[in-house]
Parts: sequence; C-alpha cells; structure tokens
Amino acid sequence: MTILVTGGAGYIGSHTVVELQQAGYDVVVVDNLSNSSEVSLQRVEKITGKPVKFYKADILDREALEDIFAKESIQCCIHFAGLKAVGESVQKPWEYYYNNISGTLVLLDVMRKHNVKNMIFSSSATVYGNPAFIPITEECPKGEITNPYGQTKGMLEQILTDMQKADPEWNVILLRYFNPIGAHKSGTIGENPNGVPNNLMPYITQVAVGKLKELGVFGNDYDTPDGTGVRDYIHVVDLARGHVKAIKKIEENPGLEIYNLGTGVGYSVLDIVKNFEEASGVRIPYVIKPRRAGDIATCYSDASKAKRELGWEAEYGIKEMCEDSWRWQKQNPNGYAE
Ligand code: NAD
Ligand code: WQD
Repeated sequence: MTILVTGGAGYIGSHTVVELQQAGYDVVVVDNLSNSSEVSLQRVEKITGKPVKFYKADILDREALEDIFAKESIQCCIHFAGLKAVGESVQKPWEYYYNNISGTLVLLDVMRKHNVKNMIFSSSATVYGNPAFIPITEECPKGEITNPYGQTKGMLEQILTDMQKADPEWNVILLRYFNPIGAHKSGTIGENPNGVPNNLMPYITQVAVGKLKELGVFGNDYDTPDGTGVRDYIHVVDLARGHVKAIKKIEENPGLEIYNLGTGVGYSVLDIVKNFEEASGVRIPYVIKPRRAGDIATCYSDASKAKRELGWEAEYGIKEMCEDSWRWQKQNPNGYAE
C-alpha cells in the first residue's frame, strides 16, 4: 500500500515515515520544506535502509499534486503539511488560513479526482480549547479556540467531517495530538524549530546545550499541584506508531473516526524540568514569568478509545521522552544545519 505523507520532512512526519517504512508501507513524501530540511529524509533513509520517494512541492500547487497522483499509485494520505506556530498565526492570520485551509482544499480536490478517499489528518488537542472536563475524551465538546492556527485545525476537522458525510466513500480519521516531544532513539532525527523555540521541550534542550540562558516558566499561580501548567506529553515515536495503527483502521472502511493520541498522564512544567535534569545530568536554570496569553492550566487526554479501537497505546514514559530529546539536541546542536 502506498501512503502519501504531506509534510513528511517535518518533525512528526519524518518519524512517521520511519515507522511506515518499517511496517512495510511504500511512502511518497510531499513537502515544500518551508519549515524543514531534506536532510531529515536522508537520515530517515539511514535508519530504515530504504529510499524515501520525495517530491519538493507545495500542497497549494494543484499541477504538482496532479502530477504526483498521476505517477504514484497512492491509496491513502497522512496529512501533516501545515504551518503550526501559535504566536506567529496571531501575527499572520492570512498566511495561516491560506496555507492550511486552501492547501488542504486543493489536496482534497486532487485526491477525490484520483479516487483516493482515505485521509488521516493531524489535528490537535487545541480544538478542545479550555476543556469542559479532564481527562479529555473525544466526546468533550470543542471549545473556544484563541488563535488562527487552532482555528485552522477546528475548521479543517469540520470540512473533512462534512465531506465524509456528503460522500461516504471517504474514510477520514482525525487524530488529535496532545504535546509531542522526544526523538528517534538514534538521535539522528528530531524537532528542529526555527529561531527561539515557542514550545517547552525544545526551549529546555536549547538551554541545556548552552544556546539559551534560562527557561522562563509561564506562570506558577495556576490551579495545579505546583502552580505551573500541566500537559500530556507524548513521545513522537509513539505518536508516529499511532498513524500506522490508523492506516490499519482505514483499511476497515470506518467512515469518520476521531482519536486522541496522548498518554493520559499530565506533567507540570516543573515536573518536566526535573525529569529532564535527571535524564541529562544538566541543570536547567529557570525564572518564573507572567502567564502566557492563551494558555490554559491543565490539559491531558483520556486515550482509551485509541487503545480499544486501534490497539494503540503510548509505550514510552517521561524518562525516555527526556532522554531522547536530549540525545537529539546534543548530537545536533544546530538541528539539521551543517
Ligand atoms: P513541522 O513544521 O515540523 O512539519 C510540517 C511540515 O509541513 C514541514 O516540513 C513544512 O515544511 C511542511 N509544509 C507546511 N506547509 C506546506 C505546504 N503548503 N506544502 C507542503 N508542505 C508544507 O510540524 P510538526 O510538528 O511535524 O507537525 C505536523 C502536523 O501536526 C502539523 O499539521 C501540526 O499542525 C500538527 N500538530 C503538531 C503538534 C506539535 O506540537 N508539534 C501538535 C498537534 C498537531
Ligand atoms: C507547554 C507548557 C507553557 C514554553 C502547543 C500548542 C498546541 C499544540 C502543542 C499544535 C505550558 C509552558 C512553554 C516556555 C513555559 N501544537 N512553557 N515556558 O502550549 O501546551 O501547546 O503545542 O497543535 O496547539 O498550543 O505547548 O510546549 O508551548 O507549552 O513555561 O518557554 O509549558 O506555558 O504550560 P502548549 P508548549
């Protein structure tokens, strides 16, 4: 079975290509490299020992997609391609709506023209907003989303749901990721943010490697055990394996399904600092700062639906997540840049 992976050179995409190839799938990657490097795919090839078929193309480029669908016998798409920086999306809403929404609409149109109606979509726990209850099940109502990035996820979920309803030949799986961290065990692929990281773990690893002075902890007056924000961190390799399970589900023609991919365990910012220090042996200096706009106190999943219906559950704990994030950063202090 041939799987089209859009955004396959990125952080989650590259780890998913590894797992797909290791599970025996043929993979075609489309990425415009706007937030990634082709080096990640060369590293994937080293890990799996298999070539990765790569097209440098934009999902907004209908002609390029038409060519790819004409050449390759694609049966299913895992759709990672998109812009994902929450803060940047507030500054550049048009760019986010155009890239994420219009790009996906073009992709969906080319897919249906080529009678490829199997789609696994990267959604996010951000669609729950400030969640109505914790742990968050898939039944939790979607909440108020406070930034354009998150809006694109909510809107694309709706678009995919409506298309599947109108044409039941579509199989659509919406995967709502919690907070992916960690890296492949080899330490050769991992998260490679541009500029100063917005997310917690890459910030911590860059402090550890000496690129940043200290961590700012955004608020210690939340209603949580130690006052800092609590999240459901999930190892990116577990997340990647969730996609392999989702493909097996797609093969059963499920129609529309939604799954949370998380561990079901919440850790605070200070828990992460402590676990990282233990895993790396490096001290992480931090200062308490004001709360960050748009942040919520607590967010963690009930991931039992994925266990029940996909036979998937996270295997790695916080220790491995910290060790593997650290190995990647230490071996690649400048990411994929030589
Ligand atoms: P990433 O930026 O590393 O990967 C996205 C990839 O898509 C990049 O390689 C980028 O170059 C590519 N891309 C962007 N726009 C494109 C376009 N128009 N045409 C072709 N390629 C394009 O991000 P990631 O962390 O791997 O995230 C993958 C997906 O998962 C995204 O859709 C993201 O919104 C979603 N997601 C990520 C997280 C997270 O915390 N990392 C959480 C929930 C959901
Ligand atoms: C985690 C915790 C921060 C940085 C974001 C997106 C979400 C999803 C995953 C894509 C919070 C605190 C952080 C720092 C800190 N992405 N923090 N100092 O905000 O849970 O989720 O990434 O879909 O949509 O919003 O992740 O890693 O930014 O923050 O104290 O320098 O760490 O306040 O409590 P978040 P994060």
